[in-house]
Amino acid sequence: MLTKIKDFLSDIKDPVQQEHYTRLIATLLEKGYFPGLAGVPVARSGISHIDGKKGILTYRGYPVQELAEHCSYEDICFLLLNGDLPLPDERDEIREDLLKHKRISNKIGQVIAAMDKDLHPMYMLSASVLLLQSKDQACFNVDYYNQNLQRAIRLIAKFPTILGIFKTKDPDFGRDKNFVAYSQYCLYAFNPELADEKKWVDIFQQILVLHADHTMNNSTFSVRAVGSSKASIYASISSAINSLSGPLHGGANERVIRMLEEIGSPERVEEFVDNKLESKEKIMGIGHRVYRTYDPRSLILKEKILPQIFNNGNGAVVDEDLRKLYEIACRVEEVVLDRLSGKRIYPNVDFWSGLVLKAMGIDPSFFTTVFALGRIMGWTSHWVEHMEVKSRIFRPYQLYDGFNDRHIILDPDDEIINKLGK
Ligand code: COA
Repeated sequence: MLTKIKDFLSDIKDPVQQEHYTRLIATLLEKGYFPGLAGVPVARSGISHIDGKKGILTYRGYPVQELAEHCSYEDICFLLLNGDLPLPDERDEIREDLLKHKRISNKIGQVIAAMDKDLHPMYMLSASVLLLQSKDQACFNVDYYNQNLQRAIRLIAKFPTILGIFKTKDPDFGRDKNFVAYSQYCLYAFNPELADEKKWVDIFQQILVLHADHTMNNSTFSVRAVGSSKASIYASISSAINSLSGPLHGGANERVIRMLEEIGSPERVEEFVDNKLESKEKIMGIGHRVYRTYDPRSLILKEKILPQIFNNGNGAVVDEDLRKLYEIACRVEEVVLDRLSGKRIYPNVDFWSGLVLKAMGIDPSFFTTVFALGRIMGWTSHWVEHMEVKSRIFRPYQLYDGFNDRHIILDPDDEIINKLGK
């Protein structure tokens, strides 16, 4: 057996893959299973790639830095769904499609508008995606690539409308408004006042592009797992939104701002971080399953986007409370790097993104929906890709460690007298 394993490993030519499989086998030998499925390959995909050691993220082979600097939402949407960047005509066409299909029926709009304002926006979003199914009775047939692509674009197009309806309680939100670009509409859904300012639309677009895809993360895995049962795009994307809502995934951006507010001043950072580490609590916005160096998306936010907002030299005018949060964040980064860089743990994308969104006047409870508005491009691309492969339904294995050999015991009156655990 051991010889077979050694032969298998030595047959792998790529040293990175070889190291990867060696680690996997070691985990299996040590623990008997793969906690959190860490490192377990579950699908083949050509959509995005991460080199966690070098801190490189690519979409369809292009570095995310170049895409964020030069491409529009429409470009990335086309790239992820189709595999190549669009030609000018194709860009116009996808923009037209996205803006044309933003409309939601008044009936569904009324249901979304009537949802309790205290419902968390992520739960509202996942419920609303399911509601859209009623207008797509053919969605259960998932076997046609072109129809799947169209469904993806129509669903993406409706995301800002859902958010706008919920925020404004207007079931016809955005209906009679015209937009030059889809990202302008996206920002309009969160803050109509900023949507006419190119600087903010560009920044918002970059944020969406940075979140567009990220290999087999928890929510993308959910898309694939649900989709592997041939469930519709609505069921799959709604599940992904639920997964993203968790604080260990996309929900971290909201918690980071709340954490910075709780810390209150740069002077309190050291004590806060040390207390968290001592009590083995996670510091929000720090660490990543894959990156063992600085997350490239996080670097773009820190070095390119945040200075546009907070650098006085740029003539930036920022509310004092927000500037203070920024200073606290910078100090948290310093202290965390000092205490944790031995573990190769760095600030992730959620650490910095909340500050940008807050500067745009977006309420923290909506932060993760911005993440979703970017990631919907990746989720739908993975769903479309998954429908193309003849894969088996996802069905992993569990190690059973429960009771065996238990039986119902009845008393003379036929009442059950079993006690839990006996
Ligand atoms: N704060 C403090 N310690 C952390 C940490 C954090 N945010 N993230 C990881 N660590 C520690 C772990 O406790 C572990 O310590 P140990 O070796 O002493 O047990 C070590 O660093 C390695 O952790 P790792 O295996 O890299 O983490 P993971 O893959 O299990 O979890 C996350 C990854 C993202 C879930 C985790 O880093 C986390 O919870 N971060 C905070 C939430 C967050 O920002 N999520 C958004 C991710 S984009």
